[in-house]
Parts: sequence; structure tokens; C-alpha cells
Amino acid sequence: MRAQIIGTGSCLPEKIVTNDFLSTIVETSDEWISSRTGIRQRHIAINETTASMSTEAGKKALESAGVKAEDLDLIIVATCTPDTLVPNTACLVQSELGAVNAVAFDISAACSGFVFALNMVDAYMQAGIYKTALVIGAETLSRIVDWSDRSTCVLFADGAGAAVVRAAERGVIASTQGSDGTRGGAIYVKNRENYNPFVTEQKPMDYLYMDGGEVFKFAVKKVPQSILQTLEAAKLTTEDIDWYLFHQANARITATIAKRLKVPNEKIPMNVDRCGNTSAASVAILLDEVNRKGMLKKGDKLMLAGFGSGLTWGTMAIEW
Ligand code: ACO
Repeated sequence: MRAQIIGTGSCLPEKIVTNDFLSTIVETSDEWISSRTGIRQRHIAINETTASMSTEAGKKALESAGVKAEDLDLIIVATCTPDTLVPNTACLVQSELGAVNAVAFDISAACSGFVFALNMVDAYMQAGIYKTALVIGAETLSRIVDWSDRSTCVLFADGAGAAVVRAAERGVIASTQGSDGTRGGAIYVKNRENYNPFVTEQKPMDYLYMDGGEVFKFAVKKVPQSILQTLEAAKLTTEDIDWYLFHQANARITATIAKRLKVPNEKIPMNVDRCGNTSAASVAILLDEVNRKGMLKKGDKLMLAGFGSGLTWGTMAIEW
């Protein structure tokens, strides 16, 4: 049995922040941000949290799948911005949904998180361990961004996306994932400093750091390689794929990958212009968007691609 997505949902914070507004708090402009990233606006959490958005996205995914919360036997949340270090976000979601029969835990793989989580669910389903899962990607990146750093605060945003997955005869066809910890310095955020009584030096809170150029080079090289590996394992060609759902980091990264693979723009839905970079949530939010628009037909072949901090990357071919 393989993992088949049977319902999707998403949740974006109410507050929309435009590039023009950002230019009132840091020295930037709509022209700079949109020409270099494709981003025009993003949703930023005020009252929403990673768990509340996850729950909302999860509810919508359950509704769209026609599955009851009690029928879930697994909930995985991919996030690098949990509200609490313990309990994990998935347990908070389990409690809110009343998914009393599910085992619930989080995984941390930044922008690859949703694809990694789906891959894990697929492995469980191939092994016959779980039958019905809820997979969520969710972030409140606005909490860890330095709002005085124009090189990062214009990129990141908040939101959650979810998919209900069941063990079925068709679904995931093949996947590839990888990590390169030696390049972890390209994007990192430290956890709270150690303030135990034996530490003498007290340090200020840290924010997200990113070497934009390094990430760009990594993404445009590694993602096409990973997609080709996944296609080979799936016995498919680039033309066989109907939809490429890329992590929404930056429109220029996506355009470069598409050019390298000779994939036409019509096959690459985007929402980075409206949602910014929501890390683990981005592929899941995009998937829900195209699903709700009725763009996905039974039998369509999808290629999901996540890439980000770690560095990590994951691609997955799915038959819808
Ligand atoms: N507004 C105006 N000027 C800015 C801004 C801003 N928001 N941010 C940086 N600049 C300035 C810089 O200070 C620099 O000025 P200087 O030349 O006087 O020093 C100048 O613009 C050029 O800076 P670069 O970093 O070289 O700009 P670049 O054209 O490379 O674009 C960007 C930066 C968009 C981050 C690019 O490197 C990129 O796309 N990187 C990919 C990283 C990415 O998308 N990460 C997403 C998160 S990671 C992930 O999801 C995997």
C-alpha cells in the first residue's frame, strides 16, 4: 500500500502585510522585493499560532476528505516554529481535533518538512503500520525573523497547510530525500540560550540568519538533481508530470529550476506573490490551493519539491 492524499486544507493569518508597508519599517521597496523574489504580500500572525493554524488547516483537510478525527491513527506536524518545545504541535492538534486514536509527533526539516513527513507516512503505509494520517506543515516564522533586517524580513511569512492521507493501491510513486549538514550555516536560528546557573555569559535572543546567495546556488543545483532521481525511480519523464509544486521560497529560484528541467511555466502553480515563504507550510498551502481550484484530476502526476535549511531537500512523485 502507498500513501494517497484524499483531502487538503490550509489556514493563513488574517493580517496581510504588503511590500509597501514593509518599506515603512525597513529601507526597502516594492520594486526591490518583487523583482528579486516575486513576493508582493504575505500573511503575518497576530492572534494565530502554529498550533491554531495547524488545527484549522487539519479540520478543513478532514472535511474535504470526509474523514472523522477519530479515524486518524497518525498525525505528523512539520514545523521549525512550534509554539511549545513540549508538548509537540501534533499533540496540541490531536487534542483540539479530538483525534483520540492517533499517535502524534512533530518533525523538523525546515522547508523540506512537509515532503519529508509525507515520505515518512508513505513508509509507514508501505509497512502496514498506519492507515489514515493527517500531515501538516505549519510555521509562524514572523516570530523568529529580525524585523529590522531587510535581507530576511521581506521573505518569510506565516501559515499552515494539511493533507489527509490513507493507505491505498496508488498515491506516492517514488521519492528522493537528502541532507547536507556541513552546509547548515547557510540558514540557521539558534534556540534560546542556556541560562542555567553555571553559565556566566548571558547572550541576547537570536534571530534567523540566512546567506541568500548560498541558498540560491544550493536550491537551483540540488532540486533539479533530486527531481531527476525521483523521476527515474518512478519511471517517468519531466513531460509526464502534470503539476510541479515547488517550495515557495523565491520566484527566481523556481524559474531557474524550471529552465534547467525545461518545464513550462503553465505546469508550475505559484503563490509566493501572495504568501511569501512559509517554510514547511508552503508546499501544503499550494497543494490545497490547486486542489480547491479543481486543477487536479484523477490520475494526474504531481511532483512535490521541498528544500531549505539543514540543508535538506526532498522530492516526491504522486499519482493523484
Ligand atoms: N531591500 C532593498 N535592498 C536590499 C534588501 C531589501 N529588502 N535586502 C538586501 N538588500 C540589498 C543588500 O544590502 C545589498 O546591498 P549592497 O549591494 O549595498 O550590499 C543588495 O541589496 C544586494 O543584496 P544581495 O543579497 O546580493 O541581493 P540578491 O539580488 O542576491 O537577492 C535574495 C537577495 C533575494 C535573498 C537572493 O539572494 C535569493 O533569492 N536567495 C535565495 C534565498 C531564499 O530565497 N531564501 C528563502 C529562504 S530559505 C529557503 O526557503 C530554502
